[in-house]
Amino acid sequence: MAGHDQQKQCDIGLIGLGVMGSSFALNMADHGFSVAGYNREEEKIRRLAEIKSEHHKIETTRDLRQLAQMLRTPRAIVLLVPAGPAVDAVIENLVPHLERGDLIIDSGNSHFTDTDRRGAALDVKGLRFMGMGMSGGESGARHGPSLMPGGPEQAYARVRPILEAVAAHVGAMPCVAHLGPGSAGHYVKMVHNGIEYGMMQLIAESYDLMKRALDLHTDQLHIVYERWNRRALNGYLMEITAEIFLRKDERTGQPLIDLILDEARQKGTGEWTVADALQVQVPTLNIDAAVMMRHLSGFKAQRQAAALLIKGPDPLYAGDKPAFIDRLENALHAAVIITYAQGMALLKQASAVYGYHLNLETVARVWTGGCIIRSALLADIQAAYKADPQLENLLVAPPLNQVLTSLQADLRAVLRVAVDLGIPVPGLMMALAYWDAYRSSRLPANLIMAQRDYFGSHTYERVDAKGKFHTRWDRSG
Ligand code: 6PG
Repeated sequence: MAGHDQQKQCDIGLIGLGVMGSSFALNMADHGFSVAGYNREEEKIRRLAEIKSEHHKIETTRDLRQLAQMLRTPRAIVLLVPAGPAVDAVIENLVPHLERGDLIIDSGNSHFTDTDRRGAALDVKGLRFMGMGMSGGESGARHGPSLMPGGPEQAYARVRPILEAVAAHVGAMPCVAHLGPGSAGHYVKMVHNGIEYGMMQLIAESYDLMKRALDLHTDQLHIVYERWNRRALNGYLMEITAEIFLRKDERTGQPLIDLILDEARQKGTGEWTVADALQVQVPTLNIDAAVMMRHLSGFKAQRQAAALLIKGPDPLYAGDKPAFIDRLENALHAAVIITYAQGMALLKQASAVYGYHLNLETVARVWTGGCIIRSALLADIQAAYKADPQLENLLVAPPLNQVLTSLQADLRAVLRVAVDLGIPVPGLMMALAYWDAYRSSRLPANLIMAQRDYFGSHTYERVDAKGKFHTRWDRSG
């Protein structure tokens, strides 16, 4: 046993040494933590051995029993394996080697209901479980991701020093915090991805308008996005978009973007966001539109056939191009704020429904660095929740509401152009529809209620009296 005790020295375990896992292992080791890494495949272990440096304290194994022996107790083990059945399989194989109080942290993009299920099953065995969203891709995992942990708070306290050290930092603040119990962390990560989808769709629409209506070539597009990234729209997605337009294909020398097939794939987190937004009844028009447009992009063959059959207007814009680009920047700025607002509104409602007790200021702060949706706007969003933690919706928060009020004319102007030229911009349209609907004290839902009552006796409520009412509509008054 003495031999075993000697082996129990690593600070943290890591299962899954793929690109994300090995990057995260190196990140933890950079900060002086000793890591015990496990992977079934020898190849992955060899690759990590090749890229780690002398000073990195990383031990590796292909044996889960040995992994458990390498770790100080109570153990903390991060899983970075593909979401889905692989997570269950790893947990099943790992558990026999663990002891009461040990902690498993699932850091993949797991569905939050799976996280709740796994947490409950492990709790019965005396094991702790945390679902931790991780954003920022390979470079985030390596140099500082945004981390969204949820689960038992005492379990978080044990790994907090490691997570705070390895997370992205904005100023002195690490982009990690305990977000709430159970699946709170994975829920927040799911909504992060939903917002990511919404923003990507909006940026793609701005590209489509500038390419089709203004006929800009890729070097010009690079300049526009690069400029936008220096102003209000500054953020990671804007930065990588600018860079994408610079890249030339190695084989042909052409702009690579022009050679990429226009069918957007998805792993599912955007769809999950939309599905749960329906469940908790929060409108997320921009996220919905983004998911639907990825689906519609997949009908490439049908679109190609239809393009030959259905003629629309000439897409070329005849007006002042630089002025249009400025208006487009403002339209995009407004629509991105409105997309964040939908995601935050969803988190607020989900927090109440699922008992997460989310602090939305903290969520915004965790997203200010390291993650895919990080942007300058998140500082304003964080400030809005700091000023009013109970804020119902970002659209009414000063100064965002004044900003939106001043940008709305340009959003409307850009939409008029897109409509006239026949260029599809559902994201921009949904943003305006959400804004206009949210600021309408009266919507035509009264007519919908009258229709329901007419054909189905579903009753309606009145503005001037309490109770349920029914009218025999087919009889004359
Ligand atoms: C992140 C990303 C990451 C992943 C997405 C891609 O936050 O680092 O969101 O989680 O790249 O899952 O999602 P789709 O394949 O669904 O576009």
